[in-house]
This record gives sequence, structure tokens and C-alpha cells, in this order.
Amino acid sequence: MNTIEALDSLRAKVCAWKGAGLTVGFVPTMGNLHAGHLSLVELAGQRCDKVVVSIFVNPMQFGPDEDFNRYPRTFQADSEKLSSAAVDVLYVPSITDMYPNGLTQSVVSVPSVLTGLLEGASRPGHFDGVTTVVCKLFNMVQPDVAVFGQKDYQQLRVIQAMVQDLNIPVEIVAAPIARDTDGLALSSRNQYLSKEARAIAPKLAVVLQDIALAIESGNRQFDVLTAVAVQRLLDEGFDSVDYIQVCDARTLQAAGPSCQSWVVLAAARLGNTRLLDNREVVLLEG
Ligand code: PAF
Repeated sequence: MNTIEALDSLRAKVCAWKGAGLTVGFVPTMGNLHAGHLSLVELAGQRCDKVVVSIFVNPMQFGPDEDFNRYPRTFQADSEKLSSAAVDVLYVPSITDMYPNGLTQSVVSVPSVLTGLLEGASRPGHFDGVTTVVCKLFNMVQPDVAVFGQKDYQQLRVIQAMVQDLNIPVEIVAAPIARDTDGLALSSRNQYLSKEARAIAPKLAVVLQDIALAIESGNRQFDVLTAVAVQRLLDEGFDSVDYIQVCDARTLQAAGPSCQSWVVLAAARLGNTRLLDNREVVLLEG
């Protein structure tokens, strides 16, 4: 694995691969890698000849009161994990390559119908930061395929919309959520949890699964299902629930009667840690 910091070197490498007819898969990350990230890397390797992983903790997607400064930076451990995976290049852009004119330059913004709700409502400006950096990374790496985890379901939909709206020539591949043995979705932020909070955290996946199972059995009382789930989480020891919502899996609008595919999305807080999770509803044929 080559670790590359200079954009020119990255471009030369990718250009040589493409000249040789090789395809490039890309996994953008903010580091602090866990088994979930490695499953994205594996998927990229299955789809492409070469794999690039980036590590860049993107200041533009953090709000002023969020955890940018304390976001775990674990470069050495990340680099070792990626070396043991099938990664060809670890790209670590500098802040000046990424934001040559500071953070107040051109911004890529997906319409608020998709970015103003759920995570976007709780974290104003977050998705502009994500789409701007991902668009820049796509321009830098020029991948054929880019892999994103379904754990950040809204992020995935927002990036799919950006790629379609801006005709960016990259295929977006969605990777299933990687979970711990007790069902907790893997996340870099799980390490902030105290021992007590870590024991409560898997309840989030349980209530989402219960809502999904109820919908699969024909229940369409979404408001009742989500209200019950919120109360269960509070009773179990969650400090607050930002949202639990049954949405149209394609548009992420609140699910209405004509909706045919659903996803249940949630964000809830345990102490200072904000956990995200979701479940798609799978209707069996017949
Ligand atoms: O999902 C993440 O880790 C980040 O939002 C991403 C896509 C790497 C952009 O900074």
C-alpha cells in the first residue's frame, strides 16, 4: 500500500492505472477505522482492480458545537489495518489541497427537500460539508466506483442525488450495515460510550427491528409505532431521541399511504454520544 499526500502524485498514479485499463474503487473515510470500514474496502476490491481509501477529517461537515476537535485521529492504527486489507493507495489530503481558499469557497449543495430533514434538521449545514468534500474527493481520485455504508442512510441518498444531478461519472455502491454481535451498528463514535451506555446502546437496533417487523406484518400506524419506540428508548435509559421516522426509502420523505418501500431511520443520544441507525423494511413476495 502506498500512502500519498500530494494530489499530483495521486493523479499520476490513477492516470497510470486507467491508462493500463484498470478500474478504480474508492472508499472515503474520516479515519478511526473499524470492521465496518473494512467491509466497504472489501466491497470496493470485489468491484474494481485497484482500491483507494482516503482519510480526511472534514471540518466543513461539523457544526460549531460538534466533536471536530475531539474526533479520534488514529492514523497509525488505521494505516496498519488498511495495509492488511487489499488497499493500493491510502490518500491523506492536506487541508490546503482540500480547501485552497478556506472553508468559505464554492459549496456543493443538494436541495433541502433531501438535506433539510432528519440529520439535516438536527445538524444544519452538515450535508453541504459532506457533498462538498465528497465531490472534491471524486474530482481528485476520479474513481469508477465509490462505496458508502448504509449506516449513514441519508448521506448515501444525498450522495446518490448529487452524483445524478451533477452527472458525476462514478457508480455509487451501498454496503450493508456492519453490526457488533449484540446488534449495535459499528461506528467510530461508539468508543465514546461509557460501559453502562454501551450496554444500553443495542436497544436502538432492537426498536428499529421491531418497527420494521410490524410494517412487514401489515401495520401501517407509523406514528404509533415510532411513538412507542421513542418511549421504549427513553425507558431503557437513552437521554433523548432526535428522531425515529418511517420514511420512503427512495425519497426519505415521511412515508405516506402510497409508499412501497420503507426505511426506519433513527438518531438518539446516550450521554454525549449521538447514535444513528436504520432498518429497511423487506416485504416478502406473495
Ligand atoms: O461518512 C463519512 O465518514 C464522511 O461523511 C465522508 C463520506 C468520508 C465525508 O467526509
